[in-house]
Amino acid sequence: MADYQTILVEAKGAVTLVTLNRPDALNALNSTVLKELIDVFAAYDADDGQRCLVLTGSEKAFAAGADIKEMADQGFAQMYASNFFQGWEKVTATRKPWIAAVAGYALGGGCEVAMMADILIAADTAKFGQPEIKLGVTPGMGGSQRLTHAIGKAKAMEMCLTGRMMDAAEAERSGLVARVVPAADLVAEALKLAETIASMAPLAAIATKEQVNAAYEMTLAQGINFERRLFHGLFGSKDQKEGMSAFVAKRKAEWTGR
Ligand code: CAA
Repeated sequence: MADYQTILVEAKGAVTLVTLNRPDALNALNSTVLKELIDVFAAYDADDGQRCLVLTGSEKAFAAGADIKEMADQGFAQMYASNFFQGWEKVTATRKPWIAAVAGYALGGGCEVAMMADILIAADTAKFGQPEIKLGVTPGMGGSQRLTHAIGKAKAMEMCLTGRMMDAAEAERSGLVARVVPAADLVAEALKLAETIASMAPLAAIATKEQVNAAYEMTLAQGINFERRLFHGLFGSKDQKEGMSAFVAKRKAEWTGR
């Protein structure tokens, strides 16, 4: 594994565990964090032996936002010319599934990164918010869009206009997170979920992610057609033959990802 300054990376069987590690800044997301995450997500996508990834932070903070100190002196021209934050699109371009496991603060960019994940699970200590308005700006890493998709306009507008935090119970009620677990169990539960996903047919996992994400981009008719085409396509894979013959023979399927 490469030597990183702001993240810790461990392979746990077929699951990659990535831990944000800037404790002095509550895991604020500076350009080094982004560069390192782009690298580790690309390595994960390219490694046939890795089949799910968990991104987590500390007990106190998943991430308290984009790094305010790094942005404070920037001007419009620099932000616009560099297309600041565009690099996160490399993270969201990851084809294989990944999970965000959130304890403590997930604010601003921290909430936005958590919402980029395919599945978000939260500790009972989690606090989500888009407090950018208190800094004289708005969400900039997708929060106004992904939060609205996840919890609807009423709550998203309220959160973005007031900067108030939402606790884990409200996040679960509102559909922002798949599940809430005790803080002490967060990483173990996230790894267990990741291992379940990692045990599935790898091509079907990529196709499933594409299908569910298409629901945000396509009309219902287009999405259903897209789903059906991917379903048909999987009948060209060895894993479809293996999965169905293993079911008929009452044995465990052995996936090859081909
Ligand atoms: N950027 C840079 N540094 C940050 C940070 C951030 N987003 N959040 C916290 N830190 C730093 C603090 O400056 C502090 O550093 P020093 O010890 O050097 O002073 C350290 O982390 C610990 O923070 P606090 O002392 O503030 O800890 P606390 O427990 O009193 O408060 C908190 C915790 C409520 C989360 C508070 O830190 C806070 O409000 N953080 C900022 C949250 C925020 O506004 N996030 C949005 C950022 S903008 C953004 O994300 C834009 C976007 O859309 C992508």
